[in-house]
Amino acid sequence: MIEFKNVSKKYGEDFAVEDVNFKVEEGEFFVIIGPSGCGKTTTLKMINRLIPLTEGYIYFKEQPISEFPLYEMRWDIGYVLQQIALFPHMTIRENIAQVPEMKGWKNKDIDARVDELLEMVGLEPGKFRDRLPGELSGGQKQRVGVIRALAADPPVILMDEPFSALDPISRESLQDDLIELQKKIKKTVVFVTHDIQEALKMGDRICLLNKGRVEQIGTPEAFLTHPENDFVSDFIGDVDGYMMKRATAADVVKTLPAMEEGQTGEVPEVPHEADINTLFKYFSTHDRVTIVGDGARRSLSREELFKYLSGSESGDVR
Ligand SMILES: Nc1ncnc2c1ncn2[C@@H]1O[C@H](COP(=O)(O)OP(=O)(O)O)[C@@H](O)[C@H]1O
Ligand SMILES: [Mg+2]
Repeated sequence: MIEFKNVSKKYGEDFAVEDVNFKVEEGEFFVIIGPSGCGKTTTLKMINRLIPLTEGYIYFKEQPISEFPLYEMRWDIGYVLQQIALFPHMTIRENIAQVPEMKGWKNKDIDARVDELLEMVGLEPGKFRDRLPGELSGGQKQRVGVIRALAADPPVILMDEPFSALDPISRESLQDDLIELQKKIKKTVVFVTHDIQEALKMGDRICLLNKGRVEQIGTPEAFLTHPENDFVSDFIGDVDGYMMKRATAADVVKTLPAMEEGQTGEVPEVPHEADINTLFKYFSTHDRVTIVGDGARRSLSREELFKYLSGSESGDVR
């Protein structure tokens, strides 16, 4: 869907992005991560031509991006920023309706779409449609920012640290919503973050940048089990520690509730002494498993495993 071939961006003599190569598949959630100033935003903005590249090629739907009219790029590629810039004097409906209106949709189709999108992110249309942005909380504005990018149903969405300005609770709930949403709508998403936990939780694949260059591209599993160099392992943190301490499925689920007697769990069922590598193997083919042992059964999702490994709910290892 999107391909970078030897792409560089220079400002004067300095590379902001240097010789970057990757291919984002259709329907993939691709995360670009790295420290501040490593070239994440520049990479993202080159995709929809907000920033021109210096060297190399970027392909969109197998065609060089230079061959698309600019308006088509902007319509086919939704864009979500860190600080959502909603138009303050326009209602939520008017804000969401911008691209559909430019594309000449009928009013009744726009109204239906706006309500559908508001419902999708848990904002009651009757209550929120006619409000002004100033009447929404930060998390609600961010939700509107996400659905505004989805309004005209673009095949690709670019997101630049969309949740980083939020408090941890709104942030987690928006991450969870976006994961659920993505399961339904299966867009091609390029998502920028500097937060490794967010990257591991959200990404089908992750691309780690350092000073404009790619350090590693791969699945969360690959990052955790096979970091390619010291920069990568340092960036991920102490996940290796969990392997060294021989963490088991029982450790991972110990804070999760046990299922009721007679409740049926997801297959496969995994014994609680299974180690982390064994769990990865199950999660490469399933989104959820049931951990069985000590007379209890606990349901574990892929996201919960990564949350545990990236340290947010461990306490004792970090
Ligand atoms: N307009 C610009 N002029 C000069 N240097 C820039 C410009 N925009 C970004 N840079 C530099 O390019 C590098 C990458 O920036 P950016 O892509 O914004 O990083 P990130 O989003 O990862 O924090 C940084 O060193 C930044 O200072
Ligand atoms: Mg940035």
